[in-house]
Amino acid sequence: MIRRCTPSDLQQMHAAINDAAQAYKGVIPDDRWHEPYIPMEELEAEIRDRVVFWCLEEDGQLIGVMGIQDKGDVVLIRHAYVRTSRRHGGIGTQLLKHLEGLTTKPILIGTWRAAIWAIDFYERNGYLIQSRKETDRDLRRYWNIPERQIETSVVLAKSAEGAANQLIQPTS
Ligand SMILES: CC(C)(COP(=O)(O)OP(=O)(O)OC[C@H]1O[C@@H](n2cnc3c(N)ncnc32)[C@H](O)[C@@H]1OP(=O)(O)O)[C@@H](O)C(=O)NCCC(=O)NCCS
Repeated sequence: MIRRCTPSDLQQMHAAINDAAQAYKGVIPDDRWHEPYIPMEELEAEIRDRVVFWCLEEDGQLIGVMGIQDKGDVVLIRHAYVRTSRRHGGIGTQLLKHLEGLTTKPILIGTWRAAIWAIDFYERNGYLIQSRKETDRDLRRYWNIPERQIETSVVLAKSAEGAANQLIQPTS
């Protein structure tokens, strides 16, 4: 079941995110890695900053978590995480499609340039890698991240049309 997260999900969200984030260990720049990757205070700050989190729940367990943040002219997909043991089962795709269905605005996603599996995942879902110039501009405009993260990140985008088309495509 995909549903919106509630305050009582916080512990499980934190656990699922940090389990999934192990994928970054040894891949992203060492100076950006820390454990837990997302401390509870940072997760709470993101919620206060209006990242709306959704989750895929199975038997009372949060298996995947994904956030969406309205930035006016665009929306951002933030913090996409599926538990390590459940990857490649279509959960990330289900969550992403669900969030895409909540908006008709252009969608931007930022990720580590070294996270090639994530870039691949988004490209397969119809997102296009932005140029270095567009990436820098968008990260500065819509995100609040340190300069070092800007240098080592990439932004992917899907047009509003793309998102709207998805809404009218029949499900197979
Ligand atoms: C990126 C991430 C969220 C994707 O979630 P996921 O649930 O593994 O994604 P899906 O299963 O929907 O799709 C992943 C792959 O599995 C394949 N797949 C989907 N359903 C499948 C199934 N039933 N059987 C086998 N393979 C399947 C898809 O073709 C896809 O292949 P691709 O990655 O080569 O395109 C997840 O890998 C993750 O949490 N990674 C670590 C954190 C991270 O990188 N997050 C992104 C931050 S922006």
